[in-house]
Amino acid sequence: SILIVDFGSQVTQLIARRVREAGVYSEIAPFQSAEAAFERMKPKGVILSGGPASVCDDGSPRAPQAIFDSGVPVFGICYGQQVMTAQLGGKVEKGNSGEFGEAYIEVGDDCAMFDGLWQRTERHQVWMSHGDKVTELAPGFRAVATSPGAPYAIVADDERRYYGAQFHPEVVHTPDGGKLIANFARHVCGLAGDWTMAEFRDAKIAEIRQQVGDGKVICGLSGGVDSSVAALLIHEAIGDQLTCVFVDGGILRAGEAEQVVSLFRGHYNIPLVHVDAQDLFMDGLAGVTDPEAKRKFIGKTFIDVFEAEAKKLGGAQFLAQGTLYPDVIESVSFTGGPSVTIKSHHNVGGLPERMNMALVEPLRELFKDEVRALGRELGLPDVFVGRHPFPGPGLAIRIPGEVTRERCGILRKADAIYLEEIRTAGLYDAIWQAFAVLLPVRSVGVMGDGRTYDNVLALRAVTSTDGMTAQAFQFPGDFLPRVATRIINEVKGINRVTYDYTSKPPGTIEWE
Ligand code: XMP
Repeated sequence: SILIVDFGSQVTQLIARRVREAGVYSEIAPFQSAEAAFERMKPKGVILSGGPASVCDDGSPRAPQAIFDSGVPVFGICYGQQVMTAQLGGKVEKGNSGEFGEAYIEVGDDCAMFDGLWQRTERHQVWMSHGDKVTELAPGFRAVATSPGAPYAIVADDERRYYGAQFHPEVVHTPDGGKLIANFARHVCGLAGDWTMAEFRDAKIAEIRQQVGDGKVICGLSGGVDSSVAALLIHEAIGDQLTCVFVDGGILRAGEAEQVVSLFRGHYNIPLVHVDAQDLFMDGLAGVTDPEAKRKFIGKTFIDVFEAEAKKLGGAQFLAQGTLYPDVIESVSFTGGPSVTIKSHHNVGGLPERMNMALVEPLRELFKDEVRALGRELGLPDVFVGRHPFPGPGLAIRIPGEVTRERCGILRKADAIYLEEIRTAGLYDAIWQAFAVLLPVRSVGVMGDGRTYDNVLALRAVTSTDGMTAQAFQFPGDFLPRVATRIINEVKGINRVTYDYTSKPPGTIEWE
């Protein structure tokens, strides 16, 4: 296994992901508890992450000395490289200007990290993001790749098997970065690379049993992949100690409630409570137009309904959630913040404190595509595994302005037509997420001989690998006009359809 020491970088989980992709098991430990994790895991290698601190500042974090004393290979990334250099006797200085974004490095020498991958004199694209830099190597190290801004872009001590990169190999903007990390894991650390999702599942099942004991767990199902996979995994671990609660607040897509109920009750025989809370949600949403106010109301109301259902079930000590890594990173301010809250995701926080429950979040370190792989591993039917993500606050955040039953009804119909056409055209799996947004804007039209004055609908479809960045999907030329015509003809209340071309960033995927 590989231990990743986290110094608080926003992308530490991406390192873990690259290690998993190399077929190697890894765990992340915050630097404060890394020594204990190191003793427990006895890893074959250690990766030191990036982080927001400056090695030059008093009290900035350090890697446990035990790691360097043990003789295992170490790969330091960005802050990790700097901290390793400082601890092993080199020098790091504050840069007066940082280096951020795309850069090219030139390979100057061979080293074990480059075997079968990079040759001398080649140039490779990497992603830099650092203020400080190494100005004097620690004894035993040499530079094996350089860039104009970073003479020590990659440093190596083949004898001790210590390596450092000034850039971030874990992000997609370093195209060969995954291979570099795989070389470290397999070639330098000598790990076999045969770890699979099946083992992840077994490890998580053991972890869940250990955490829960003979306690009771309740799990909120949303109909999406994440909560479904979390529920299945937990059900495998503890059987009927798990009860699922599915709340219908009137903000679901067409047919969604029926599908969830038949899958969980019919197919899996997992205890499921189906709550019709449409009145409660719709009454509470009346007059609410601010996106965060909507999110907060919906989150809180889910919690109220949940709490009431949990009481009826006689209580539970644990709450299960299908929280994924991108939910965590976008909702929480990390060490060294202040990273801003873009949107308050409703599946993180709230309920556990109020009900005195502990959280069970077995998917917390995974990305969406990994959750899908795990779902397949658990035998979840393909139609569910492949479903586009759907946010907890549902249709409510796809109706800018006030949410009403009528508007939800209009949106539900239009959305169903759009998705039906996408499936018919065989495009569903090529798209990360597609949905319609009902705008609080009316426009004038002409239908037959009459004037219309109705709502405008925006269609959105994006490609993405993890939901953290996204591009607008390019439909074949005749697709959107066909969908627009169908929606305007078939959905009363809509007389104009537009397409949203915004990427993320600067946009977000959802409109609110
Ligand atoms: P944004 O709109 O932030 O969305 O670019 C990124 C991904 O997250 C989904 N999303 C949510 N999922 N609860 C969820 O479970 C939420 O509150 C929530 N808000 C956004 C969104 O659909 C996209 O896939």
